[in-house]
Amino acid sequence: MNALNIIILAAGKGTRMYSDRPKVLHNLAGKPLVQHVLDCAISLQPQQICVVYGHGGEAVPQAMQLYGAKFVIQESQLGTGHAVQQAMPHLQDDSRTLILYGDVPLIQHSTLHQMQHAGEGLVLLTVNLDNPAGYGRIVRNQEGDVQRIVEQKDASPEELEISEVNTGIMLAPTAKLREWLGKLRNDNAQGEYYLTDIVAMAVQQGVVVHTVQPAHGWEVEGINNKMQLASLERVWQKQIATKLLAQGVTLNDPARIDVRGELVCGRDVEIDVGCIFEGKVTLCDRVKVSAYSVIRNANIGTATHIAAYSHIDSSEVGADCHIGPYARLRPGTELHDHAHVGNFVEIKNSEIGSGSKANHLSYIGDSTVGSRVNIGAGTITCNYDGANKFRTVIGDDAFIGSDTQLIAPVTVGKGATIGAGSTITKDTPAGELTLSRSKQVTIAGWLRPVKGKK
Ligand code: UD1
Ligand code: MG
Repeated sequence: MNALNIIILAAGKGTRMYSDRPKVLHNLAGKPLVQHVLDCAISLQPQQICVVYGHGGEAVPQAMQLYGAKFVIQESQLGTGHAVQQAMPHLQDDSRTLILYGDVPLIQHSTLHQMQHAGEGLVLLTVNLDNPAGYGRIVRNQEGDVQRIVEQKDASPEELEISEVNTGIMLAPTAKLREWLGKLRNDNAQGEYYLTDIVAMAVQQGVVVHTVQPAHGWEVEGINNKMQLASLERVWQKQIATKLLAQGVTLNDPARIDVRGELVCGRDVEIDVGCIFEGKVTLCDRVKVSAYSVIRNANIGTATHIAAYSHIDSSEVGADCHIGPYARLRPGTELHDHAHVGNFVEIKNSEIGSGSKANHLSYIGDSTVGSRVNIGAGTITCNYDGANKFRTVIGDDAFIGSDTQLIAPVTVGKGATIGAGSTITKDTPAGELTLSRSKQVTIAGWLRPVKGKK
């Protein structure tokens, strides 16, 4: 079989998105539309990928992970045939060329694979629609052979009755495609160079035209406005949720989970409603994520419970930990097994040893906390002097009294106790009680101020 070349058309403006961002850079499941198409294209291991961009200029190539794809600009959008033409200098004649669209994001590998195996000649991806309005119609002869594609605006009343439409996705022998594109004319209702006109040329030359239908209708749905974007997002999220359910994950409501990346789950994982997973997230066996938690680029260890409204970003969480509700783990947090992080606790760039607890209202930044440490409510590491950041080190089995400020750089020795309300500016010895607050006094007979007479 001939090598595969792929063209992705992504030059359109997307007027109906009412956005300054080029249409193909709007996100679906946290990833630009065109990146979905590029990732699918790559999965076919083609010899060459060429992205045709135009509106939005360099923003399109800049936003995409390149993987060696070629980018060609289509300065003015003169039609799909003209767009494909821009890519032709980069394609090899002895290949076949697959044409994809940057605004048709959910095309699947399996459907394209089927097209590749449909036979020699021209392969069109078509669908039957109850309401075919707006699409190019597939015109067949009495034997059922495809004759040509007629665009909505050029179609006769009889042709408008045809329910089989062109999705736009097609596969053509590259040398033939080059020849056909050279013959395109724009004397049609829209004054455009229609890619679809190559079908009649193929038929005229006796090139067989095959048709393939996608496994799912949503694979060929294009995005023109925010309604379509929102509805395709739901379709895709439902697919992801269905896969998770099929693997045995408990979802309290499969319609209320958002996965914007890759979510890998072990056995007996439970996810309550409203949770968002971004980037690469791994939930090990028996992890439970309660409602409205947001987890990005994190590994969560076995049997850990993330209580409601917790935010975890770029962190490693061990087994049997308890996090939240309302906890925030910022990038660089590493929790060892059995750690507890409670409500309104923020941790950044810190390691928390096994069995250690920070259960209430704390900020722990740039710290190394040993094992079995108890961090009292309201404890703050003062890691920043306005210019530089410094580390706090807390030894194993230390007990930090409530409302302590640890002015970094500072080290609390193993087994040390810090009295509540202390401001610790110097290292504290292991095993001893250190405190830094003034003694409590009572002023006998003190009177509260009263308002003066006017
Ligand atoms: C096209 C097809 C039509 C098909 C429909 C499916 C043609 C002539 N018609 O019509 O048969 O049913 O798609 O959605 O091909 N683009 C460029 N540069 C251009 C023109 C278009 O990059 O100069 C890109 C657009 O950004 C878009 C895609 O090509 O992603 C399709 O273009 P559009 O103008 O929307 O084609 P339709 O008129 O919908
Ligand atoms: Mg058009």
